[in-house]
Amino acid sequence: MKKRVLFVCLGNICRSPAAEGVFLHLIQSRGIEAHFEVDSAGTGNWHVGKKADSRMINAAKKRGISLPSFARQITLDDLYRFDVILTMDSANLAAVKTLALEIDSEKIAEIKPILSYARSSNSLEVPDPYYGGDDGFEIVLDLLEDACKGFLAEFS
Ligand code: 4NP
Repeated sequence: MKKRVLFVCLGNICRSPAAEGVFLHLIQSRGIEAHFEVDSAGTGNWHVGKKADSRMINAAKKRGISLPSFARQITLDDLYRFDVILTMDSANLAAVKTLALEIDSEKIAEIKPILSYARSSNSLEVPDPYYGGDDGFEIVLDLLEDACKGFLAEFS
């Protein structure tokens, strides 16, 4: 059975598409992509239908990582469909947990901060790079590469 993983941030144009791309790159390079279903979503709806932010796309491209996603907003159905939902910061975590309160079932996704799997960071917050400079996108990718490797290590 495939492990279904959803990455969630606020706008679904910077952090969660990057997490999706980083994780896809990792599983493809290890030849294990058939074991996973991977997607990303935002808690907000402002950017629905858009490709990832060009600054995020370019920073990822320099690392050989492509970001295939188009922004969408998380739905209640995602909580049933995915096994695990990995959030980027405490606001996303709270928003997804609030959504989960609408469901009267225990058979829903496990909801966790992605940085709970990071090995080189004690923080649970992937900083939002949207209003900052280029270095913010590099910091996001460094954190996500570390956390995605830590998450994948759960399956080996
Ligand atoms: P993301 O970044 O949550 O990592 O996609 C953001 C993108 C856009 C906005 C905020 C955060 N915004 O306010 O439009």
